[in-house]
Amino acid sequence: MDLITPTAETDISEDIDRAGALDGAAIVDARGILRTYVRGLIEVPVLKGLDLRVRRGEWVACTGRSGSGKSTLLNVLGLLDSADAGSYRIADYDVSDLDDHGRARLRNELIGFVFQLHNLLPRTTALENVATPLVYRGVGRRERLRRAAAALERVGLSDRADHDPAELSGGQMQRVAIARALVGDPAILLVDEPTGNLDLTATAEVLGLLEELHGDDRTIVMITHEEDVAEHADRRLVLDDGVLRPATAADVARRL
Ligand SMILES: Nc1ncnc2c1ncn2[C@@H]1O[C@H](COP(=O)(O)OP(=O)(O)OP(=O)(O)O)[C@@H](O)[C@H]1O
Ligand SMILES: [Mg+2]
Repeated sequence: MDLITPTAETDISEDIDRAGALDGAAIVDARGILRTYVRGLIEVPVLKGLDLRVRRGEWVACTGRSGSGKSTLLNVLGLLDSADAGSYRIADYDVSDLDDHGRARLRNELIGFVFQLHNLLPRTTALENVATPLVYRGVGRRERLRRAAAALERVGLSDRADHDPAELSGGQMQRVAIARALVGDPAILLVDEPTGNLDLTATAEVLGLLEELHGDDRTIVMITHEEDVAEHADRRLVLDDGVLRPATAADVARRL
């Protein structure tokens, strides 16, 4: 694999297509990941040598008690945060070879992120929210809005395109957040508690959407504390004492 020279001219998407030819290879390959938060004199070790490999097109669910480090893990996987140690390859890029600019470009090309609290921009329409990631790709406004409208249609919210987040229900906000994660057609979706605070109907809608996206051969890493949601994934893992392990029957029964 060639190293990326992260210049404005680098066309990462071509490289990503080439990496996609590695059939069956791990698209996410994290090994020995350490992440400790330091606040003054207090050190909070959160990820303690964590390993994770995810195959292209696989849907992995990760549970774990509150504060176990699930969002921290997703931030590292999504290149929003850096591990203190360990190796991380994503779609065959060695993340440690990239500077901030290269990481931002890779994230923008490859990863769709659905945040735990959806993080929609306030006082900004659903359509504009969904179009935001395309700004960083240099897509022109007209084309941005066209693609954003298509993504909103995909999540069944064309009729809410002009609504601000404050004018949407929780489930609708979550679907807008999914549309925003989708708009750049990312190979990998990282989803943090997609159904937290949603009722059964809205949960079913979001899950149906994730099923559909998984059907498109997209790779999904999903954090959830809900058993009924986790069971939709191909593989179940638990974040436990800073590392990931396969979910056991006892975990499933305990309903983390
Ligand atoms: N920026 C930060 N600075 C210091 N400590 C942090 C920071 N972010 C998270 N932590 C700590 O790291 C630990 C893991 O937090 P994280 O948000 O990853 O947990 P989580 O598993 O996602 O929890 P939840 O299920 O409640 O969302 C917690 O103890 C938290 O207090
Ligand atoms: Mg969290």
